[in-house]
Amino acid sequence: MRRIAVLFSGEGGNLHNLIKTLHRKECLIVCALTNNPHAGGIAKARHADIPVVVLDHRHYASRDAFDAELVATLQPYKVDLVVLAGFMRILTPLFTSSFQALNIHPSLLPRFKGARAIERSFEAQEPYAGATVHLVNDELDGGTIIMQQSFQCDNTDSLEQFRCKIRAIEYEILPKAIIDMLNSLK
Ligand code: GRF
Repeated sequence: MRRIAVLFSGEGGNLHNLIKTLHRKECLIVCALTNNPHAGGIAKARHADIPVVVLDHRHYASRDAFDAELVATLQPYKVDLVVLAGFMRILTPLFTSSFQALNIHPSLLPRFKGARAIERSFEAQEPYAGATVHLVNDELDGGTIIMQQSFQCDNTDSLEQFRCKIRAIEYEILPKAIIDMLNSLK
């Protein structure tokens, strides 16, 4: 079975969804890694008996030093793919040249790259919103788009309702994109 690592920084809703939809069925999540010692996702991974690694970025002098440790930590897991699921760190070429990686972003890229994408897209009141899975390169949220799904915005929605619609799309397209990607590997 193919092996993946999932990187996260927060509640781990996407991580939890990947555990439910993919783990031990489509692939093995062999490592769940976070830069945040207080991330809610840690308990979710442990509950599923997935090895958890905490690498607190504040303990590293530079972005490169953190990324070098990240690469060295992940290498022994021999993963086919790294999945960034709410991993709130910009990655350098040290990382991007070492692993094939996917990221989930809560907007219709190239619109609303970067932080607070949900809030910014909500405030923009555009006709459509959605989420995107893309390949990770060293440009923030800038790699090739491999899957995207949208919905028509309802201007009576609250921010919370809008967030739920994006979340539902994330939970649908991230597992699909991972399966497609793993199937395309030689
Ligand atoms: C998701 O909306 C993801 O797109 C964004 O951060 C959020 C992570 O949430 N980059 P969770 O930790 O998966 O619950």
